Amino acid sequence: MSNIEQTLSIIKPDAVERNLDNAIKDMFKSNGFLIVKEKKIQIEKYEAEKFYKVHETKSFYNDLCSYLSSGPIVAMVLEKENAVLDNRELMGATNPKDALKGTIRERYGISIDKNSVHGSDSLKNAEIEINFFFKD
Ligand code: CMP
Repeated sequence: MSNIEQTLSIIKPDAVERNLDNAIKDMFKSNGFLIVKEKKIQIEKYEAEKFYKVHETKSFYNDLCSYLSSGPIVAMVLEKENAVLDNRELMGATNPKDALKGTIRERYGISIDKNSVHGSDSLKNAEIEINFFFKD
């Protein structure tokens, strides 16, 4: 039985700034993900605050929201079997220094803040996050 899922991925400002968007998209495609929607945008800080609301009590919340709104990002809907978990595996650990070899964050991440990509952490959040960027 197939378990096709969609998840939200964001290529963050540090990676877009270094022109890594095509290299990262190629990693998704070569790992079996279809990029079914995508857009390159820059969001306002209040929108980043809404997007990362689950982290609002964390010490890093303000810096995180400033950072996500600091430059262009690429938001994408990725689709494949088990997309949510497989994307998290392909991204690697949140902190690039802990990320396994061959993962996106091990290859391209600079720091825990500038970790190049975001991916939804559950199917429920995937739906919420996809709606956030692609309501239509
Ligand atoms: P992301 O997957 O986009 O989700 C929230 C982000 O907060 C995370 O990636 C990190 O870039 C950032 N962040 C900064 N500090 C921390 C921390 N101490 N723990 C977890 N995430 C952090």
